[in-house]
Amino acid sequence: MVIKISEKFPCILAKNVEYTYSSGSLALKDINLSIFKGELVAIMGKNGAGKTTLIRTFNGLIQPSKGNVLINGIKTDSKTIAELSKNVGIIFQNPMHQLFSNTIEEEIKFSLKNLDLSDEEIQTRTNDILKNFNLEKYRKRSPLNLSGGETKKLAIASIFCRNPDILVFDEPTLGQDAREIVFFTNLIKRELDKGKTIVIVTHNIEFAMQHVPRIILMADGRIIADGPTRSVLNKEFLAEKTSLILPQITLFKRAMQESGIQSQDVIHSKTEMITFLKNFIKNNETKIKEEN
Ligand SMILES: Nc1ncnc2c1ncn2[C@@H]1O[C@H](COP(=O)(O)OP(=O)(O)O)[C@@H](O)[C@H]1O
Ligand SMILES: [Mg+2]
Repeated sequence: MVIKISEKFPCILAKNVEYTYSSGSLALKDINLSIFKGELVAIMGKNGAGKTTLIRTFNGLIQPSKGNVLINGIKTDSKTIAELSKNVGIIFQNPMHQLFSNTIEEEIKFSLKNLDLSDEEIQTRTNDILKNFNLEKYRKRSPLNLSGGETKKLAIASIFCRNPDILVFDEPTLGQDAREIVFFTNLIKRELDKGKTIVIVTHNIEFAMQHVPRIILMADGRIIADGPTRSVLNKEFLAEKTSLILPQITLFKRAMQESGIQSQDVIHSKTEMITFLKNFIKNNETKIKEEN
């Protein structure tokens, strides 16, 4: 197998990062992490753990009090937020905080400013992105008059139109209905196929189990675990320490165990559980027949 060098290049690197808010709150403590090009990673942990503070260091919105953050090998303190935003697009939890134009079309055009594009290119990109996000019909509408789901879509579109190679989402599935979560899931799959790097801050453990291969778990300003999703989220003490609601499948396995049915640790998905249960029923039917 040929490994492209770029695949092993940490596009986000944090070295001994510490951050203290002016209020004196020490929000990040000795953070060390490498996220590689093309990876999909989730940052999880309870409220106040430091997740949002950490992602704000990725595009220079805040500079570490100690240590360094490097994006594509370059320290964030040597670039402006505007320059960093060309590489790192952050979609924040409350989309209203990042929208301020009079119409949806203007919102996208505003975001495309400072990218050295001609007026014609700006118009083409705006049309394309509105079409891709199914927002064309709202072109002249104010961002204030959209539904919650549409506002989130617009916030994502206003970052995507800039085509950054690193995309960071803060709680993207929060308050979204099932259809909107499917839309989001397909969206990130398409971006991964294009080679983008994606970081998602989320409490949604079912989503993480199903779609995200690597979890960085934070508690009290520190990274307390970083590894493959199944092994990080299987350690119940970690999930409990970080107040994560355990996946339904884990709770179901626990209940089975309590009632004397020994399932296996390798069961993590619905399909695996169904296979296990089918075999379990079959074996028990055979046993009952033999006993009779
Ligand atoms: N603007 C701010 N000023 C002062 N303290 C803050 C600010 N934002 C966050 N904090 C504090 O920093 C810590 C980490 O917060 P945050 O990064 O928002 O956590 P999370 O996103 O994991 O919920 C918390 O103790 C929080 O109260
Ligand atoms: Mg947060």
